[in-house]
Amino acid sequence: MNPLSRPSGTLSPSEGQRDGVRGPLGGSRAQGAIKVRGNLFLRERAGVRGNSALILALACLTPIAFTGCNSDSTAKQQKAAAQSASAAQQVYVPPGKLDDYYAILSGGQSGSVFVYGIPSCRLIKEIPIFEPRAGLGYANNPGSESYKRLAATGPLWGDTHHPVLSQTEGRYDGHWLWINDKANDRVAKIDLRTFEVAEIKLVPNIQGAHGLAAYLPTCKYVFVNGELETDAAGNSTDADKYRSLVAFLDAQTLETKFQISFVGNADIASSGKDGRYVFVTMYNTENAVTSEGMIERDRDAVGAIDVPLAEKALADGQFTKINGVPVIDSEKVPGVMTLIPVPKNPHGCNVTPDGRYVLASGKLSPTVTIIDAKTLKTIAEPEVGLGPLHTTFDGRGNAYTSLFVDSQIVKWNIEKAIKGETDYIVDRVDVHYNVGHTKAAGADTSYPSGDWLISLNKLSKGMFLPVGPGMPESQELVDISGEKMRVVAAFPSLPEPHDAVMIHRKVLENYVVQTYEQQPAAVKLGEEKVVRGGNKVDVYMTCIRSKFVPEQFEAHEGDEIKVHLTNVETVRDMTHGLAVSRMGINLAVDPGQTAETTFVAGKPGTYWYYCTWFCSALHLEMRGRLLVKPKGAELNEYPGPLARDEKLHSAGQRKGNVYE
Ligand code: CUA
Repeated sequence: MNPLSRPSGTLSPSEGQRDGVRGPLGGSRAQGAIKVRGNLFLRERAGVRGNSALILALACLTPIAFTGCNSDSTAKQQKAAAQSASAAQQVYVPPGKLDDYYAILSGGQSGSVFVYGIPSCRLIKEIPIFEPRAGLGYANNPGSESYKRLAATGPLWGDTHHPVLSQTEGRYDGHWLWINDKANDRVAKIDLRTFEVAEIKLVPNIQGAHGLAAYLPTCKYVFVNGELETDAAGNSTDADKYRSLVAFLDAQTLETKFQISFVGNADIASSGKDGRYVFVTMYNTENAVTSEGMIERDRDAVGAIDVPLAEKALADGQFTKINGVPVIDSEKVPGVMTLIPVPKNPHGCNVTPDGRYVLASGKLSPTVTIIDAKTLKTIAEPEVGLGPLHTTFDGRGNAYTSLFVDSQIVKWNIEKAIKGETDYIVDRVDVHYNVGHTKAAGADTSYPSGDWLISLNKLSKGMFLPVGPGMPESQELVDISGEKMRVVAAFPSLPEPHDAVMIHRKVLENYVVQTYEQQPAAVKLGEEKVVRGGNKVDVYMTCIRSKFVPEQFEAHEGDEIKVHLTNVETVRDMTHGLAVSRMGINLAVDPGQTAETTFVAGKPGTYWYYCTWFCSALHLEMRGRLLVKPKGAELNEYPGPLARDEKLHSAGQRKGNVYE
């Protein structure tokens, strides 16, 4: 069966449950009076792309069939072709030209972050964070520094959800990106000068580190929601003792400064803009442990945390220390957490760019609740469609809400909805299929750009070439610059992005570094050496097109070898790699970078090491030998780079300290 010709409303329960949105989606589809329109586009597509349409189009070109040709459908086809051509033009970025935006997508269970160019939708980089990545030489050798840092905080995999960019005065400043690992309760910080991990920390006491946001306007903290309730203090299995925690981390060191505990749970996070409240949605105010129990109440809540009040409680000693972290019990400090009732099981939590409202998406209710971010009063609850999950903004007073069940983005006017005007819905556009997060460029700041929106769709069904039962997620790029929205491109990704942020390339212009500055541990050209002490061998190695120095060193079987490798290139794009055959070693070093790894010399024999990044015409010649000798055998000492030994360096092209 052609999935594109699938009848509407056939989302099976198992398909519906692939998203984080679990539970009675079928029930919610039946709830409310809004028509399921998710598959209108499907039928249109099936009509345009299907065989019958093709035959019709071909028939139109042959004179004998002319009488049977409907001029209406010809006009329709011409219009569709013109629309496709203009959409293609909008996303076409010629080779060598740069995109306008970086789109940073969380990698979900890939444990990483994906960087795409927008509008071309080209994948530029994957930043491995919570998971080793051999291709990039990241954390895949137990002896490497990146491995040690990762392993010190938990397992070698992660589940990244919410990328958050640092801001200064209400705008992205391009300095830092924070990302959570839901599965293992970690938060990482990425330095946008290098697009590499700068810090990873385990967050104590919480479970299910989910919603993540920066505390605005200062970005002094990043705060992360412990979605899954536990008894952090007593390790009790008694559900009555369960609490949820929101953790406030120093945004730079990622050290947990304090936590707020409360009954209920904490799902998605968003910060007010004026340094007072931060907001979390709660879908389990029942404190239940079964899915049925979690949907008992008709209303759950948005929690508003008064951060200055929490800081005061901290200063006044109104906390208990759990595992070294001050925890403020919201029941003992009135006002630190205010619960604002919203329809049952809300999900998305988004503060408007002007900071006036916080919008809670209904998930099981076809509404978005508009809450005054200062008075914490609910002021409107407009219906928007089925399965509202997240809302984003264009800076022109419009909100864009993702509708999981309807497979749509709905554009609606916030002020009109507040005033109760009936025409607050501006536009709807179908997306393919079952959208989770959606994010417009700059929407987390005070100044959204209002041009592009990404729809992060959980299911791709027939969108791409079939590659077996497992299919990618589908992202769609939507032009929101006009009154009507327009889907202009779709692109797949590895599993499985949750959320995205878009930052204009101008913010990062002249900020992203081309080569690393010399690090303190750098091995300098001409100072390469092999230092032996007992069964430890330190190899201080450099590499440059197209040679490792030393090109040969010796060790005894069982010796612990530590390689300090500096890429002494000074031009960008000249990454080298070091793979050591049969030793499980694979490093990548960018220009100017120093990497370290430790391994144990195996059985006696010859082990070639070689460069893994194709760097020059002599890339294949860029290799050297580790000679492992039996214990007690005499070793030839590496004579140093200046004392050239023809026997050791028979094919060297080195003259003094200069390479040719
Ligand atoms: Cu260095 Cu190939």
